Amino acid sequence: MSDVTVTGLFPVPFMRVTQAVDADTVAALIRLLDSDATERNSRSEQLSHTTVCTPDAHPEFEIVNGVIGPQLVDFGSLLFGENLDWSIKEMWLNRLEPGGYQTVHAHANSFISGVVYLTESHASSRTVFYKNMGGREFAFTNEHRDAKMGPFNAPKWAVPASLPGDLVLFPSYLLHEVPRNEGSTRMTLAINAVPTRLKSWDYELRLG
Ligand SMILES: [Fe+2]
Repeated sequence: MSDVTVTGLFPVPFMRVTQAVDADTVAALIRLLDSDATERNSRSEQLSHTTVCTPDAHPEFEIVNGVIGPQLVDFGSLLFGENLDWSIKEMWLNRLEPGGYQTVHAHANSFISGVVYLTESHASSRTVFYKNMGGREFAFTNEHRDAKMGPFNAPKWAVPASLPGDLVLFPSYLLHEVPRNEGSTRMTLAINAVPTRLKSWDYELRLG
């Protein structure tokens, strides 16, 4: 009898925390977004944001900062193998009106990025993550009606339906987008976080 073992080599962690932020805080964040969404996105007229700022800029941001701190430490230990001190260096609110979208991007100068959903997202506008895009090699694929897509061959993955207060965390290098919103207004809080330090043997890199 032979044993057959399939190993998911070098997997990328992705964390979902349902109801990470309570309903009162979600309501307060929506009020803040209603009063403060001044920045128009350069690519989609139907996407606007609040100014990108540190958590101490708004009491509502401070609440979220406190609540999701332990999750950042847990997620960071998956990335770096150690419980590090993490700080959220940037937070901002997004309002995606019907017809709006966010083009594919990653978050620079950051290690953990996250989204707190403040509304439900229509099925069309769930955050989509990409394994990779482009490059200078010819690409081959086997995508067709009869091909079964799974974690090893799927080129992209959409976040399952989320409720207000749900949180997702992902490595900041992961490419992602929000496809065209065919539903009602979608609101989210985005975060970027860095550890206070990383160490490569005796060399310590200080951040934040
Ligand atoms: Fe993003």
